Amino acid sequence: MPNSLRKQIKRVIFRAFGPLLKQIIKVDNRFEYNGIQLSIPDGVFHPRYFTSTKLLLNWINENKVEGKRVLELGCGSGVVSLTASQKGAQVTSSDINPIAVQNLIENAKTNSIELTVVQSDLFAEIPTETFDVILINPPFYPKNPDKVEDNMWFCGDDFQYFKKLYLQLIERNESGEILMTLSDDCDFERIQQLALDKGFTLIEIVRKKGLTEDNMLYRLERVN
Ligand SMILES: C[S@@+](CC[C@H](N)C(=O)[O-])C[C@H]1O[C@@H](n2cnc3c(N)ncnc32)[C@H](O)[C@@H]1O
Repeated sequence: MPNSLRKQIKRVIFRAFGPLLKQIIKVDNRFEYNGIQLSIPDGVFHPRYFTSTKLLLNWINENKVEGKRVLELGCGSGVVSLTASQKGAQVTSSDINPIAVQNLIENAKTNSIELTVVQSDLFAEIPTETFDVILINPPFYPKNPDKVEDNMWFCGDDFQYFKKLYLQLIERNESGEILMTLSDDCDFERIQQLALDKGFTLIEIVRKKGLTEDNMLYRLERVN
């Protein structure tokens, strides 16, 4: 199906069902994954409704993370972090949103799963140790967030999130695996160009085709 038609279908679906979906997400505050019980408060990215989270979960399930130092940058509900920890990884989870951070601390306790949770704007408060694996499901719509919860969607009107992310990865000399999800609803050319400007490239390793959008998992690799 041509991309323009899919975008049109998506627009129609969202116009018809968007407000209802928002209401459903608002009141749907429980989620269960592989025996992990999660509470999902309003204002935290809900993993039930987004394929992007599932791509990260699938990656963890298909790869050996046991014993590895894993960072989930922008953890939202924390289902990805908790799953990695359950599989034996040594996990640090971060989010800019204090509601997500507090909620994950409580979810970890409820499930007796150990991880380190940090409130941080990207790497600002992350310990200086480097990581074997960094998992990112980023916000990618180019708009400035008004409220802290908006960070789940908006990366800044000039893609500031990505500029800062790539710069900090260089500054910290992160040399482990870096995996990032995107969908074909994002401005991939811009996000890729910003990566190239800092000496990275995004290599697609998984594509999940959907009715209204495709979701992809990329590996961020150094170009030189
Ligand atoms: C699309 S959600 C993904 C949540 C979770 N990783 C998942 O896959 O379900 C993006 C998350 O990144 C967080 N975020 C956005 N900008 C951030 C920043 N500058 N620093 C840390 N976290 C950020 C948001 O608050 C949100 O929880």
